[in-house]
Amino acid sequence: MTNPEGYSPGLEGVIGGITSIATVENGLCYRGYPVEELVKECNFEEVAFLLLYGELPTAREYNEFASRVYAARRLTLPIRDFLKAIPKWTMPLDALRTAVSALAHSDQDVEDNTREGNLRKGERLIAQLPVAIADHYRFSKGLQPIQASQELSQAANFLYMIRGSEPSPEDTKAMDVSLILYAEHEFNASTFTARTIVSTESDLHSAVVGGIGALKGKLHGGANEKVMPILEAIGSKENAESWVMASLQRKERLMGFGHRVYKKGDVRASILKPYARQLAEQKNLMLWEEIAEIVEEVMAREKKMYPNLDWPAGRLYHAMGLEIPIYTPIFAMSRVAGWSAHVIEQLGNNRLIRPRALYQGPPLRSVKPMDQRN
Ligand SMILES: CC(C)(COP(=O)(O)OP(=O)(O)OC[C@H]1O[C@@H](n2cnc3c(N)ncnc32)[C@H](O)[C@@H]1OP(=O)(O)O)[C@@H](O)C(=O)NCCC(=O)NCCS
Repeated sequence: MTNPEGYSPGLEGVIGGITSIATVENGLCYRGYPVEELVKECNFEEVAFLLLYGELPTAREYNEFASRVYAARRLTLPIRDFLKAIPKWTMPLDALRTAVSALAHSDQDVEDNTREGNLRKGERLIAQLPVAIADHYRFSKGLQPIQASQELSQAANFLYMIRGSEPSPEDTKAMDVSLILYAEHEFNASTFTARTIVSTESDLHSAVVGGIGALKGKLHGGANEKVMPILEAIGSKENAESWVMASLQRKERLMGFGHRVYKKGDVRASILKPYARQLAEQKNLMLWEEIAEIVEEVMAREKKMYPNLDWPAGRLYHAMGLEIPIYTPIFAMSRVAGWSAHVIEQLGNNRLIRPRALYQGPPLRSVKPMDQRN
């Protein structure tokens, strides 16, 4: 059956709103700046400021912004108690989703939907999400949480809170680049979810909780946790080609490949790949890079399909020694900057997001009394 005019499955190609935050046309730009330049010239804090406020910060704005964010790196006691009390097998992203919901209860601006109120809350969430991920991680290992630094950058402080020691400049830079690349991506599923939630005049925390829920699936943020299991299942360079061919024959999707918008490759994957390779070289983990290379060649040859950002990110975080279940939470702690910017933009010119559906159910009929139903 052909689709009626105006209906596009998965809303492919449909313009769902207006934005001045990012464009994916001809490469990825945040507020007009190509991401290639942003990763060279800026750190994650500068990019988060750009997304929230619309311009890159001056030195003074940067210092003030960083001071506010770094000072907000703490959780209230009930939230820490909650993170400690939940079952050890709780998925870190689920714990983060609940923590964000609980953070709303101690945020005095929770009902303030002004631009200023949402900027304050967005800054606080940028500060709090990494702490929630790190605290939950350490509690789940029976370790004491590490108190956040007031000086380290977002990238360095996160690694510090997870590991308990300050990271190397190489690890910090690579983490920072990944955070910049994960920070924003136009009308992806989680951002559209966040905008839909707040279009009802709900609140930022609810939008972020919904965004995390949408991010979880493996067709979106969950893909970065599937990369190492694929490489480990392949196991050797010799096995790579036949493994991918068999997987394609079974019509399986290879996580970390393909994209709804980028059909000729994801610029973010090309930017992050050298960082994954560099750390792998340093840590004697080149086998995974070599297998990944063969997988890329086979996918390009057989499917004309290319890696997305999750493909190098999964390997990069593994080379940093991070455990797989915190990879999607890392995506969330970065994307919260983009979600917050979109919430502010949506509320700045809001109209309830309420599309229609194509009805394909039973035709009009009458209700029968219960004893006549079969
Ligand atoms: C991202 C994604 C959901 C986009 O999908 P989409 O635009 O809806 O593409 P479609 O589902 O229409 O797929 C088109 C065809 O390519 C195939 N395909 C898409 N992604 C594939 C992948 N990663 N591996 C193998 N085949 C894939 C589909 O099976 C489909 O084949 P068919 O026409 O024979 O049925 C999809 O590429 C995917 O599932 N990728 C893996 C998950 C992932 O990495 N997600 C992170 C995205 S940043």
